[in-house]
Amino acid sequence: MREIFNFLLNIAFKGKNPSKQEIRKAVLSISDIFTTGEFLSPLNYLKDDPLLKGYILYFVPVSLAKIESIFLELLKHPIFSSLQDLKILDIGCGPSLAILPLFEILKRGQWHLEHLRYIGIEQEEKAIEVGERLIENFKPEGLSIKYEFIQSDASDFRTYLDLKAIKPDIVIFSNSLGELFDKRGIDTDTFLNFIKPFTYKNPNFTLILIEPGTRKASMRLHQMRDSLIEELELYPYSPCLNSLPCSALRANNWCYEERRWIAPSYLTFLNSLGLQVNYLKFSYVILRKDKVNIKDTFSEGEGEIIKNTSHLLNEKGKSRLWGCWKGELIDIEKLKRDFSEEEPWLKIRKGCYFSIDKYISLSAKKVRIPPDCNIKILFQP
Ligand SMILES: C[S@@+](CC[C@H](N)C(=O)[O-])C[C@H]1O[C@@H](n2cnc3c(N)ncnc32)[C@H](O)[C@@H]1O
Repeated sequence: MREIFNFLLNIAFKGKNPSKQEIRKAVLSISDIFTTGEFLSPLNYLKDDPLLKGYILYFVPVSLAKIESIFLELLKHPIFSSLQDLKILDIGCGPSLAILPLFEILKRGQWHLEHLRYIGIEQEEKAIEVGERLIENFKPEGLSIKYEFIQSDASDFRTYLDLKAIKPDIVIFSNSLGELFDKRGIDTDTFLNFIKPFTYKNPNFTLILIEPGTRKASMRLHQMRDSLIEELELYPYSPCLNSLPCSALRANNWCYEERRWIAPSYLTFLNSLGLQVNYLKFSYVILRKDKVNIKDTFSEGEGEIIKNTSHLLNEKGKSRLWGCWKGELIDIEKLKRDFSEEEPWLKIRKGCYFSIDKYISLSAKKVRIPPDCNIKILFQP
């Protein structure tokens, strides 16, 4: 990704070598949006030049890194890694095309695709221009690729009708759902109608929804997840382990990821301002027509498989976490006196999938891990 980040710097400053001060000014011009995570600025960040600069420098790298981590998660499963041809539809692609992280994955030899077809739907011409430059510069040699951008309105049902015939394997909405809902006022039923035609006679259909890691965006995403499962019979691949209603929502809570990331070096100044750049904070869901799930890729899990949705909370005499487990958020604790050497429990980070072979129920939503429990970390995204 380093080369892409440098190229973005080049695009943002039109080939000139910017000073640290200029970079800082450009990134901070858009800081309101990135502290709230909501793309609701009355100014259009893709039309206004200073905002576009900040957007390219900050949001594009962040989005690409999130999408890359999601593709790597998909590739754990042979149903994806064995695909030779791939068709991706990227709705509201902006300049951070979902295809760019894929290029990096292909170049590293982590996936071998023969044909790639990419369609980006985007209303802003400037974003499409940047997107085209990025594809032309970074497409891997030897890959047969066909791409196009359609400048069209993603809140209009007719846009989807024309796209149905393409039978995309992957449809991705990365940080665009919020704009369709908040700015265009579309509702859940309308969104389900957009997605429905893709699910017909398309057994490999995968829907990826990524949203900012804010309470509002995350809760809306998971409400949408529940509706897509119920109404369109889709099934989660990840982060959820089953299709039960979202456990976080049921607890009036929200679920988000926090994944370690090495940001472009030009962004490290944000640390000194107290803004987080070492972690990617977002919510997402991957849904499929079949029932393949990330847990199929865990080789050693014995007993119960749980996803940790919280940080490990250190308390007097014990540490706790909130696990998503069979459709409930469960308060799971382990007493410090029961810690063993090389304790796997302490290595369970937020987002981690782990298994336990024993537990003691303390109440309906609280369990304790006994000293002789075998804890296995299955996957730490
Ligand atoms: C926050 S950006 C996300 C861009 C990119 N997908 C990412 O993850 O970084 C949202 C994008 O959706 C586009 N968008 C918003 N509403 C749209 C609509 N009704 N039709 C097409 N594109 C739209 C915006 O122009 C913008 O490029």
